[in-house]
Amino acid sequence: MTGLIKMIFGSRNDREVKRLKPFVSQINETETGLQKLSDDELRAKTAAWKEELAKIEDKDELAQKLLEILPEAFAVVKNACRRLLGQEITVRGQPVKWEMIPFDVQLIGGIAQHQGKITEMATGEGKTLVATMPVYLNALTGRGVHVVTVNDYLAARDAEWMGAIYKFLGLTVGVILHDQPPRVRREQYACDITYGTNAEFGFDYLRDNGMATRKEDQVQRGHYFAIVDEVDSILIDEARTPLIISGPSVHTHDEQFAQWKPLVESLVRAQQQLCNRFLADAEALMKKLRPTDGSNVQDADALEREIGMLLFRVKTGQPKSEALMKILENPENAGLMNRAELELHKDQKKVDLYREKEELLFAMDEKSQEADLTEKGRNFVSPKDPDAFVLPDLTTQLHDVDAGPETDARKRLEAKTKLQADFEAKAQKIHAITTLLKAYSLYQIDVEYVIQENKVIIVDQHTGRLMPGRRWSDGLHQAVEAKEGVAIERETQTLATITIQNYFRLYQKLAGMTGTAETEATEFLDIYKLGVVTIPTNKPNIRKDSHDSIYKTRREKFNAVVQEIKTLHALGRPILVGTVSVETSEMLSRMLKREGLIHSVLNAKYHQQEAEIVARAGQRGAVTIATNMAGRGTDIKLGPGVADVGGLHVLGTERHEARRIDRQLRGRCSRQGDPGSSHFFISLEDDLMRLFGSDRIVKMMEKIGFEEGDELKHPWLNRSIQSAQKKVEQHNFQQRKRTLEYDDVMNKHRGVVYDFRNEIINGEDVRDRLMDIMEEVVVEKVLEFTNTDTEHGEWKMRQLADWVNLNFPLGMPEAEILKAAESGKETPVAGSLFDGLSPAQFAVVNFISEKVRNAYDIKISFENPDALKEVERFTILSAIDRLWQEHLYEMDSLRYSIGLRGYGQRDPLVEYKAEAFKMFDELMVNVKTQICNNIFRSASSMLAFENFLRNVPQQTLHQTASAFGGGTATASTGGAQPKASDVVSEAAAAQEAKGKPVRTGPKVGRNDPCPCGSGKKYKQCCGR
Ligand SMILES: Nc1ncnc2c1ncn2[C@@H]1O[C@H](COP(=O)(O)OP(=O)(O)OP(=O)(O)O)[C@@H](O)[C@H]1O
Ligand SMILES: [Mg+2]
Repeated sequence: MTGLIKMIFGSRNDREVKRLKPFVSQINETETGLQKLSDDELRAKTAAWKEELAKIEDKDELAQKLLEILPEAFAVVKNACRRLLGQEITVRGQPVKWEMIPFDVQLIGGIAQHQGKITEMATGEGKTLVATMPVYLNALTGRGVHVVTVNDYLAARDAEWMGAIYKFLGLTVGVILHDQPPRVRREQYACDITYGTNAEFGFDYLRDNGMATRKEDQVQRGHYFAIVDEVDSILIDEARTPLIISGPSVHTHDEQFAQWKPLVESLVRAQQQLCNRFLADAEALMKKLRPTDGSNVQDADALEREIGMLLFRVKTGQPKSEALMKILENPENAGLMNRAELELHKDQKKVDLYREKEELLFAMDEKSQEADLTEKGRNFVSPKDPDAFVLPDLTTQLHDVDAGPETDARKRLEAKTKLQADFEAKAQKIHAITTLLKAYSLYQIDVEYVIQENKVIIVDQHTGRLMPGRRWSDGLHQAVEAKEGVAIERETQTLATITIQNYFRLYQKLAGMTGTAETEATEFLDIYKLGVVTIPTNKPNIRKDSHDSIYKTRREKFNAVVQEIKTLHALGRPILVGTVSVETSEMLSRMLKREGLIHSVLNAKYHQQEAEIVARAGQRGAVTIATNMAGRGTDIKLGPGVADVGGLHVLGTERHEARRIDRQLRGRCSRQGDPGSSHFFISLEDDLMRLFGSDRIVKMMEKIGFEEGDELKHPWLNRSIQSAQKKVEQHNFQQRKRTLEYDDVMNKHRGVVYDFRNEIINGEDVRDRLMDIMEEVVVEKVLEFTNTDTEHGEWKMRQLADWVNLNFPLGMPEAEILKAAESGKETPVAGSLFDGLSPAQFAVVNFISEKVRNAYDIKISFENPDALKEVERFTILSAIDRLWQEHLYEMDSLRYSIGLRGYGQRDPLVEYKAEAFKMFDELMVNVKTQICNNIFRSASSMLAFENFLRNVPQQTLHQTASAFGGGTATASTGGAQPKASDVVSEAAAAQEAKGKPVRTGPKVGRNDPCPCGSGKKYKQCCGR
C-alpha cells in the first residue's frame, strides 16, 4: 500500500473508530450504575428484553430497537464479566480462571460487529471476548445467533469459555460438532447462541433443504445473524472449494472400462501401425518434393497436397505421435498439414473430410476432445456385426411403434421399453470405448497426469501443480485408471452443494473478526458487502520484525534457520517455527534432531492436541514447529521469566502466497503488549519466488554478485516479495470470483428448488398442490398433442390417450377425448393457467382433469388419511430430489464442457448462463411431469392399492389397457403407518418414464431433451 493511500485509508478508518467513541463512554457509565444491582436484578434484564423484542416482527423496527438498547446491553455483558472475575471455569477439561473485563477497544470492536462489519483486531487482542457483546445483544431477539469458528476445537472451547457469560445472564448456548446426530443438532440450534464451524453450518443447511423429507428432520431454524471468527480464513481461503455432499453416481458403468481395455489396446496398436505407414509414405514424398541433388520437381502442387493430407491423417489418428511432432518441427511441413486441414473443412458437407477419416480406425478431435470409431474401426472391433457399434435411430423406431398396428397401449409400451433398453446398452458400450480411446490418444502420463500411490492425479496445465482429489468427469478418469491398470474408483456424484460465499449470503446480518482482514478488504466488500474496520490495539505492540533474509538455495536457507534456532534457544527464548507444509515441518524436525534440539512438531490434523502444544509454545526454551495454518486462534501465554529474555520469537521458513497468512504467524507473539520478535527466511528456490518472484530480484542479485552461502537482507527486497504476494492474491481473488459467478447461476436454481421443497415440507395439505401440478401437466400435454389451427381429426389423439392411460387409471378411449373436444365452446379466462387454449383444447383439459380428480377421490376413500398425506408429500419430494440431483450432475458436465469449448469470441460464462437457463426450464417441466406420473403409483399400503385398483372405473379393466392393469405398483404391507419411502413404486415410475411417448420428429437434435424421458439433453444421455 502506498503512503498516500494508507494515509487516506488510515484517516477514514480513524474517523470511523472515533464515531464509535461516544458509545463507549455511555457503556462505561451505564456499567458503573449496574454495579449496584444484585445478580438477579442484572439477570432480569435479559428476560425483560427478550420478551419485548419477541413482539417485534418488522425488520427495521427490530434493528432500531437493538440500537437503542445497545449501550445498556453491552454494559450488562461487561458487568457480568466483572462479576465473574476470579471464578474458575472448565474449558475443554482444563480449569481456567476468569480475568477479563472488556477494554474500551474491545467495546468498539463489538459495536462495529453489531453494525455488520469485520473488525480487524491484532492477534491476541481478545476477539473471542469482543464477540460476546454483539452476540448477547442479537440473541435477545430469540432468532438464534451463530458464531462460526475454523475448527471444532475452537467452537467447543469458545462455547464453554464464553458460555460462562451467557449462562450467567440467562441465555442458552449450544455447539455443533461433527459427530452429533440430528436430534442433538436440533437442540443446539434451538439455543439462543450456537457455536460451530462453517462446514457444519453449511452441511446442515444442505441436509435440511436438499435432503430432509419431514419438518422434524430439519435442524436449523433460520439465518438471522452470524459472526465469523478468523473471517479471512473462512470467507476467503475455505471459500475456494464449495461444500459438497456426494453419493455414488448412477451414471457410470465401471466394469465396462476394464472389459473393453484389451480391445481398445489392440485398436490403438493397429492405428499406430497404420499411422507409421502414412508417415513413411509422407517422408518418401518429401524426398521427392525436396530432392537433395537439386533436380527439377514435377507436380509439386500435387505432392504438397498429398503430403499435407497424410500428415493431417496422422494428426487425426494419433494426435500425440512423437514422430509426427518431429516432422512438424519443420514449419514447411506444418504449413502443408494446415493447408490440407483448411481445404477439408472448406467443403460444407465435409465429404472429403469424412473420406479421409475413413482411412483410419478411429478419429480424434483434439479441440472438442471427441473420439469416433470409423467403419474400418467398427469392423475391427466387431467383424461379425459391425452394427453393434452404431446407434439406432431411436426416435424413428419409437415413432414407428406409435404409428403401428398394435392397439394395446401396454404392448406398445413394452415394445418401446425394449427398444429403449437396447439403445442404452449400445450407447454405454460406445461411450466406454470412445472414452478409452481418448484416454489412450490424448492423455499422456507425466504430462496431463501422474501416477502416485496407485492413483491417477491430474496435473494443472497452467501451474504444473498436482491436484489430488480432483477427477475428470464423464468416466474419463476411470478410463485413464483402466489404461494405467490402477484401481478404478467408483464415480461419485454431487447430491447437494453450495459455495461458502452463497451460504453466508443467506444471513440477514453478517459480521466477522480476524487479525488480518485489511489486505482482503476489497474482496470482503465486493462479495459479502462487509466493510473492514481496523481497531487499535489495547497496549502498543512492541514486536520487533526483522527484514527477510534471502538465500540462493533451500539448503542454505535451512542451515541458517537451524543456526538461528540454536542461537536463540541458548538464550532461553521460546521459538515458534512456521512452515508451509507438513513435509517441511518433518524435514526441519530431522535437522533439529541431528543437532540434539528437543522440540515439538504439529500439523493441522489434530486440533485439540495441537492447541495444547501451541499454548505451551511460550514456555522457556520451548521449540515448536507448526505449519502456518496450525494453531490459528489459540492463545500463547509467556512462561515465567520469558519476557525478560525477549519473549517469543517467531521464525518463518518461507513466505506464504498470501500476506495475511504471514501476519497471522507473526501474530502468535507479542500478544497483549508482550515483548517478541519475528524473522522470515526465504530462498530463490521457494515456490513463491520461482513462480511469481519478479525477475528484478534475480537480476539485482546477479548485479551485486550474489554467491552461494551469501545472505541478503534489504528493505527493498521485502517490498519486492510483497508485490509478488500481491500478484498471487489478486490472481486467487479473480479465480474465486469466477467460481462464484458460475455458482451464482446455480444459486438461483437452488433457491427456487429449495423453496418449492420447503413449501411441500411445511404445507399442511399438499393435495391441492398435487392436483394443481397435475392440471399444469395436462395443459402441457394437450398443447403438445393438439393444435389450434387443424381439425380435431388431425390431432394426435392416440398419443394423448396413451399418455393419459399410461399415467392415470382412467382407461380413456380416444373417441371420448374427441367428443370432449367437439363439445368445447368456452374460451378460458385471460391470465389463467388455461389462457391461450382454444375452446376445444380447454374442454379436453377439463375433461381429463375432471376424470383424474374423480379417480383420485376414489383412491382417497380407500386410504388411511394421515398416511396418504405422507405419501403425497413423498411423491412430490422424491421427484424433485431425483431430478434436481440429475440437474446438478448435468450442470457439472456443462461447466466442464464449456471449459473445453475454448473461448473464441464468446464469453464462456454467457454461454453457460444461457444453457443453464434452458436446462433449468426443462428441469421444472420434468419435475412436474414426474410428479404427475407418480400420483397413482403410490399408496400407503398394498391393501389400499388393491382395493383402489378394483374400484377404478370399470372400463379400465378391458377397454384400452392402462399401465395399471398389470398391477406393477408395489406397496408396503407393513405396519399401520408405513414410512412413505416404502410405498412409492419406483419400478413402475422408472419404467413408465422410459416408455413415455416421445415427439415425432424424424431426428433428435444433440441439444434436445433425450427421448428416453430422462430429462437430460440427448447428447448427455443416450446420444453420447
Ligand atoms: N479484556 C481482557 N482482559 C484481560 N485479558 C484479556 C482480555 N481480553 C482478552 N484477554 C486475553 O487475551 C488473550 C488472547 O485472547 P483471544 O484468544 O481471544 O485473542 P484473539 O484476538 O482471538 O487472537 P487470535 O487472533 O490469535 O485468535 C487471552 O489469553 C485472553 O484471556
Ligand atoms: Mg481468536
